[in-house]
Amino acid sequence: MYQLHPYFTNDGSVGLFSPEADDIYHSTYGALSEAYEKFILPADLENYFKIHSEIKILDICYGIGYNTKSFLNFLIDKKFLDIKNKNFSEFFFKKIVKKFCIKNENIVPIDTDNIIHPQYSDQLDIDNIRCSDEIYSNNSSRDSEGENKFINTITSDTIYSNNISTKNSACNQQNKKIFVKAIDTDEKLFYLSPFLRQGNKKDKKYNKLDFNYEKISKLLDNEFSSKYKISQEVNLIVFKNIVEKLPQIFDDKDFESILKFRKYSPFFDRKMLDLFWASKSNRDINNHARSLSTFIHNIYYKYISIRYKKTLNSLILDDFIFEPSIMDARVSLKQDNNIYNFIFLDAFTPAKCPALWSLEFFKLLFSHLDKDGMILTYSNSSAVRNAMLNAGFYVGKIYNKGINKFTGTVAVKNKSLIKYDLSEYDLGLINSRAGIFYRDENLTLSNEAILEAHKKEIALSDKISSSAFIKNYMKQNKEINQK
Ligand SMILES: C[S@@+](CC[C@H](N)C(=O)[O-])C[C@H]1O[C@@H](n2cnc3c(N)ncnc32)[C@H](O)[C@@H]1O
Repeated sequence: MYQLHPYFTNDGSVGLFSPEADDIYHSTYGALSEAYEKFILPADLENYFKIHSEIKILDICYGIGYNTKSFLNFLIDKKFLDIKNKNFSEFFFKKIVKKFCIKNENIVPIDTDNIIHPQYSDQLDIDNIRCSDEIYSNNSSRDSEGENKFINTITSDTIYSNNISTKNSACNQQNKKIFVKAIDTDEKLFYLSPFLRQGNKKDKKYNKLDFNYEKISKLLDNEFSSKYKISQEVNLIVFKNIVEKLPQIFDDKDFESILKFRKYSPFFDRKMLDLFWASKSNRDINNHARSLSTFIHNIYYKYISIRYKKTLNSLILDDFIFEPSIMDARVSLKQDNNIYNFIFLDAFTPAKCPALWSLEFFKLLFSHLDKDGMILTYSNSSAVRNAMLNAGFYVGKIYNKGINKFTGTVAVKNKSLIKYDLSEYDLGLINSRAGIFYRDENLTLSNEAILEAHKKEIALSDKISSSAFIKNYMKQNKEINQK
């Protein structure tokens, strides 16, 4: 049976413990905060979008998707991706999910090549549908005039969802694209990613850990402080893409029992669960995932098409391409011809998962990084930095103003992108035994084999040990300060 060990981290986002890796997937400090502060903020995406109209992101170790989701949230927040309307998710759930769940009708997907048929607006009329207030109580503020306006507009014969960008020449000039490739060996985590909710104060009671990992229980006593939040639209976008790209989600019995397991329910978003069950029961036997996906796509697209005319500077949802890859990142990247602008590397620690921190893996990443691209990671390990340097990168540090600390490492091809250089101390450590990097010549070794060889190399090395280096360094600095 698949094992899941969720807990709420200190920012209310859900973290996981992996018994297999005997490690946490997410820091107790906050899974979401970590994603923002270690990947999204240092990427300086606002500046990036001042000069670029396309972006390719490689999310290595997607897990439950915080890095990709934070990225999407950032795009929506900053209006780089235009799906934002404060009523949109309410509309979506009220109209669509309820339609699915309560009436249990088979809604025929509308072909994007076809003109929207006026009948479609009838399908969206929910006035006669019973209301499950518990779930939808948030929707009471929805103003009915807005809904009618929406329905009237989408029935207009002039909207052809596939033709929007070709019809409007201004749109072509703004033809931005967002591509995210997400890799993880664990498909269940992909499936789970759209369902997780953010907890609040009351949810602390669910933090009774069912695993023994002292570090966590000690650190989880704080109140939630949610600096960052993922909007509902992000989970919808991820859901749409997951069911489209990984339709086997509907047939996975283990996954189904995870979603049904009471113990886990506090960690899941009820609305997203409803959407899952609704889509599962309404799917077309031959074409189940596509039908839901086309359906959602159409809803989005029609909605967006109206707004699109007003906001030509923004991206539309179809400009977002998500490619999940369920396999070892080394195998996946060997088969990949993409060049990425940003690479998020979120692979546990080097000592736990050296296969994704080896010299050879960084060489592979070098061949996938744009000349102005950037690899971001939270690792400060000297062995990792040395592997990056030997793979041909310039290496710098990530600085977090909020806590006045260096919190990670960046690797680039264009030196001018480095804001915080490695210090003399960092370079000294890199030249000590601590800087001996992991080797995986053909990118096929197991983590255990890599660790074993690394241990041997350290034992045979005549380099200065890191502790001796630190001692000398402190002594010299003290002498200089005393002079
Ligand atoms: C620290 S967690 C990543 C957390 C994730 N970014 C998130 O937002 O949930 C590490 C992930 O690495 C994945 N992983 C470990 N070895 C891998 C490999 N060789 N290739 C791809 N993924 C791997 C694990 O399945 C796990 O999901």
